[in-house]
Amino acid sequence: MNNKLINKLNNKKAKICVIGLGYIGLPLSLSFAISGFKVSGIDIDQTKINDLNNKISYISDIESTFLQNVIQSNNIDFSSDFSRLTSSDVIIICVPTPLNKTKDPDISYIVAVAEEIAKFDISNKLISLESTVYPGATEEIILPILSKKSDLKIGKDFNLVFSPERIDPGQKEWDLKNTPKVVGGITEDCGILGEKLYNCVSEKVIKVSSTRAAEMTKLLENTFRAANIGLINEMAILCKQLNLDIWEIIEAAKTKPYGYMPFYPGPGLGGHCIPVDPRYLEWKLETLNSESKYIKLSEEINFSMPQYVIDRAKEIISINNLKNELKIIGATYKKDVSDIRESPAIDIMQLLSDQKIPFTYHDPYINKIEIGSKTYYSESLEDTNYNNVLGIIVTDHSSYNWAEITQNFNFIFDTRNALRNFVGNDVNIYKL
Ligand SMILES: NC(=O)c1ccc[n+]([C@@H]2O[C@H](COP(=O)([O-])OP(=O)(O)OC[C@H]3O[C@@H](n4cnc5c(N)ncnc54)[C@H](O)[C@@H]3O)[C@@H](O)[C@H]2O)c1
Repeated sequence: MNNKLINKLNNKKAKICVIGLGYIGLPLSLSFAISGFKVSGIDIDQTKINDLNNKISYISDIESTFLQNVIQSNNIDFSSDFSRLTSSDVIIICVPTPLNKTKDPDISYIVAVAEEIAKFDISNKLISLESTVYPGATEEIILPILSKKSDLKIGKDFNLVFSPERIDPGQKEWDLKNTPKVVGGITEDCGILGEKLYNCVSEKVIKVSSTRAAEMTKLLENTFRAANIGLINEMAILCKQLNLDIWEIIEAAKTKPYGYMPFYPGPGLGGHCIPVDPRYLEWKLETLNSESKYIKLSEEINFSMPQYVIDRAKEIISINNLKNELKIIGATYKKDVSDIRESPAIDIMQLLSDQKIPFTYHDPYINKIEIGSKTYYSESLEDTNYNNVLGIIVTDHSSYNWAEITQNFNFIFDTRNALRNFVGNDVNIYKL
């Protein structure tokens, strides 16, 4: 066991290096700095490094004033220079793990970072991978790269763990500190060191038996979510056929004190996790000539929702003889975030463009969106009369003033039940 590193963690003398300063890495590095550690944040995106060095936050959950305070009162620096790894005791990897064009895991970012780390002497260091990966990836991909350039022994000379990130952007109640952190090591000693590390920033750390168990925990959580969203999206479609209001039914069902957990339908899946992570598990299963029926089915339902929304919109337009034009209200993948990655609004826009249906959009966080070769700019919802133009609420940002917005429309298709408490104005509201 590396008692020296344990002491350094206990005394907050360990130097922490976080690689990848996006939605996950930036809050994590600030968190370690606030806890009293010396932190170096590394990113290859020079624009992000410049912003951070100018104390400007590019993440909606982190106010620039908060960032300024942390930088002023703590020991933290940001750079794209990997030589900072030399003096670090702990290296945490938070780079993207998206899907490639063929919808297979793109592990090129974690491979590139592991190769960068392997250029340095990693003896006595603890390396933690936080990027979401398939079960086995830490051991099968990262460990061989770190081991290949030296004869250092894992668990003795250096340490490697996987700890999934559970941050939920836009959510204020649960943060890094009060959300339990899961960690698993390649060896038992690695796991113990990982537990010590995350105890410094998290109130509760759950150590599992291996990196594989930690990797699978993350995939179970997000597959559970994707499958349940698939189920409720299907229920929404069925309720429409039965002439029932799914939202009323969810409200009633969730009064059951046990055995039911509410999930809500919507225009599709979005973000960097729920649409992507189950595919990582599916891919791994394919390598074993196996499959997950739940993942396949929920993907089929969830990814068909943008077209379902368009079909419903066409129906509303036709029944009411509206203009063949749509106004998309909200474009980010969920409310109150500035992230359009995998957003269902983008899928809807792409499908509308393919089907030659004219549209405009508004989002307070995103001022332009490229669809094919065309650039769309966010157009104000105020001061414009969208008479006989169908407005589709795709993202229900808290900053939207529904009373004002509905004054400008006479027809709205609400895919988020954002207008559930809305009374007044002469507007026809259609629900998902
Ligand atoms: N965003 C979320 O809500 C969320 C939640 C849980 C888990 N995760 C997982 O966390 C990981 C990171 O996600 P994110 O949302 O923070 O991504 P992000 O795209 O916001 O940030 C990743 C950062 O890594 C940087 N980067 C890429 N290659 C690099 C390299 N070779 N060296 C240094 N920096 C490099 C990028 O410039 C970027 O700033 C992913 O695996 C994701 O699945 C994300």
